[in-house]
Amino acid sequence: MRCVTGANRGATVTDAWNFEVELRSDPATAEARTAVLAKPGFGQAFTDHMVLAWWTTERGWHDQKVTPYAPLKVSPAAAVLHYAQEIFEGLKAYRHADGSVWAFRPEVNAARFSRSAQRLALPDVPQDEFVSALRALVTVDEVWVPEAGSGETSLYLRPYMIATEAALSVRPAGEVLFGVIASPAGPYFDTGPKPVSIWLSTTSIRATPGGTGAAKCGGNYAASLAALAEATANGCNQVAYLDAVERRWIEESGSMNLFFVYSDGRIVTPELSGSILEGVTRASVLELAADLGHKVEERRISADEWRDGIRSGEITEVFASGTAAVITPIGRLAWTEGDLTIGDHSVNHGVGPVTASIRSTLLDLQYGRTPDPRGWLTRLA
Ligand SMILES: Cc1ncc(COP(=O)(O)O)c(C=O)c1O
Repeated sequence: MRCVTGANRGATVTDAWNFEVELRSDPATAEARTAVLAKPGFGQAFTDHMVLAWWTTERGWHDQKVTPYAPLKVSPAAAVLHYAQEIFEGLKAYRHADGSVWAFRPEVNAARFSRSAQRLALPDVPQDEFVSALRALVTVDEVWVPEAGSGETSLYLRPYMIATEAALSVRPAGEVLFGVIASPAGPYFDTGPKPVSIWLSTTSIRATPGGTGAAKCGGNYAASLAALAEATANGCNQVAYLDAVERRWIEESGSMNLFFVYSDGRIVTPELSGSILEGVTRASVLELAADLGHKVEERRISADEWRDGIRSGEITEVFASGTAAVITPIGRLAWTEGDLTIGDHSVNHGVGPVTASIRSTLLDLQYGRTPDPRGWLTRLA
């Protein structure tokens, strides 16, 4: 049951959690909002409000609210600042042609948030409560969800949880903050998808067996930045990481899962090794590609198989999957001793036919342009 009452301070959004709503007295003007929505970029502008909820060992979750977007006040001794006890999620709210607003498989993000919380010794936010927090924010800030038909635009939602307890001893914090912020997102590629280049890192690894690679925690991303700088210095957009033990098996890129398309139509993606982030898009692509008639394989794939496959023509397309860029074609693989071009860049701007069809199948589903037989969409507003 969900209801929104009142328009001023003291109103509530009632769902799995009850959110007290404190509306901002100085929301963005319609002109300012329109200017942002005309060219939102990614993760640069934020909506008028945010969700906050507090947790303590004694009280559990309490004081859930939708409140004006503002800087947080945390102690300089907060555990998150010293020991990185933090997790986050990323998903989008899509406006459909009838004006309604939907999330794509938010329960899968909620389940991953729970797994990340467990790994980082943070408290659990149950699935219904997680989705209710998204709905509370989108309900209040619905005007920030870009109109349907304005390209691949959406409202990016960023739930997070940080350890706020002021204590310098290394132990799970007894005080925690959960929040959700929202940011209008434009198409990742202004002029349609373009192939990106990948730097195969042979010096940095992203995650180790038994480590935090399968969790969405800030520390993983901090540890990937030096390798990203190395990729940039070598003229590449992204990094692909190898496994930590044999330094042989492809894991994933810094923020996307990887897929390899073979000349016989097979699609291969690295199996979940315990150190790969299990992408919501990855799981969805596996099902949609099978619907489209592809044989899909989750298995180990080595860097040599990737390089040999490009050289022999057996691997015809490579793409990356993730919430932000949906499906991104990969057109080049570079490493310290070599550089290979993937696919035919003279056709369809280098976007292979399999990549293009999976991309449009997924987008059509997310924007409500095709039926949703699996019930992957959840209405938010
Ligand atoms: C390391 C990493 N791998 C894969 C993904 C793709 O996950 P999803 O499809 O859930 O966005 C992401 C993005 O969240 C990521 O950060």
